[in-house]
Amino acid sequence: MRNLCIVGLQWGDEGKGKIVDYYADGFEAVVRYNGGSNAGHTIVIGGRSFVFHLIPSGFLKKKKLLIGPGVALDPLTLKDELGLISNEGGRADLLVDERCTVVTPLEKEMDEFIEGLRGDNPLGTTKRGIGPSYAMRALRLSPRAGDLASGTFDTASAVAFYRSFMKTIPDLSAWKAESRAVLQGITGDVGGSIMELNEKGSSVMFEGAQGVLLDLIYGTYPYVTGAHTIANYVPAGLGIPNSSLGDVMGVAKAYTTRVGGGPFPTEITGEVGSKIRAEGKEYGATTGRPRRIGWLDLVALKYAVRLNGVSELALTKLDILTKVKEMKVCTSYSIEGQETSDFSKALPRLASAKPLYLDMPSFLGVELRVDTLPRIAEDFVGYLEEELKVKVTLVSTGEERSATIRRSA
Ligand code: IMP
Ligand code: MG
Repeated sequence: MRNLCIVGLQWGDEGKGKIVDYYADGFEAVVRYNGGSNAGHTIVIGGRSFVFHLIPSGFLKKKKLLIGPGVALDPLTLKDELGLISNEGGRADLLVDERCTVVTPLEKEMDEFIEGLRGDNPLGTTKRGIGPSYAMRALRLSPRAGDLASGTFDTASAVAFYRSFMKTIPDLSAWKAESRAVLQGITGDVGGSIMELNEKGSSVMFEGAQGVLLDLIYGTYPYVTGAHTIANYVPAGLGIPNSSLGDVMGVAKAYTTRVGGGPFPTEITGEVGSKIRAEGKEYGATTGRPRRIGWLDLVALKYAVRLNGVSELALTKLDILTKVKEMKVCTSYSIEGQETSDFSKALPRLASAKPLYLDMPSFLGVELRVDTLPRIAEDFVGYLEEELKVKVTLVSTGEERSATIRRSA
């Protein structure tokens, strides 16, 4: 079996955590390659909800867990999550790459500080210090996981840098000792481990964080995260050859959500939006903020499918649309009187894009929790496949692991 990457195709929160958990069986390891504790993966099993920010979602299936060098690692979040796993009576088989960028308390302060500088127009970050920590890495001022574990990193230059623009500086000595204790004995070479697993015939799954439209370069800049969210980043974020990427499963919600600021052409406000938010429990898993709600945007989705080389699609939360009487998909935008369905070209003027919709038959009251999809849902999925030119191999119709319908590839 080939390696598999699971990537979110919208603005995050597409339900990747559930899909990773669902597919993890056939894989030896589940690997994070990007982002940090800004991510929030919710998995519901037996009515209990687990939210993880850093640890790959494969822990529930007792998989080997790898955190690759492309991740911004907050050691104290890691400590909390390891604690939660041991409270559940589990033990994480975890390896953190020694080249991971470490998020220190300084970067969290800096995240707040920069959001404050933006005045009335903040990005709406998660304040987890993600962007600043990647920036500090580029400035060669951030510790790496291995430096911290071995106690060889001197934070003096980073602290001096912060002093130049911040009034109060958190004291790092207690943090350093605590973080070092978390990382000692669990750091190593994640890329090498993946290659070894592949050489002995085992496959690994790459778990993306955030979504394509939050990518630092290809997303809706500047309203993006501080890292790369596209599947193309897997090899670079892990130190493995491109040929090891394997298949790419894109995950898209049957509607769209976004947390934080930035353009969102298909956003719906009012009653329908509130209903979808309530039924879909659309509140940020990391920050608790209400997510903005919108109709499915095929213009953006086509861009995401092409950019990531998506080989199959998982469609999630279709059940939520059975609670509302309207059903629409956006097929193109009108920008300054011109119609376009090219997202790349629309990006610079996305704030003024007006969505042009196709009205679809309403899903209100449709029963979806069965083995096969009812006709109306099959027709909808068939329409998406035709438009996106990719097979929808999985449809999620509820938060439980069991509410998942497999379709043949
Ligand atoms: P940051 O990643 O904390 O810098 O936040 C930048 C933007 O990305 C904000 O709009 C966040 O709400 C958004 N964001 C970051 N992580 C996630 C996620 O896992 N799901 C959804 N949005 C996210
Ligand atoms: Mg999330």
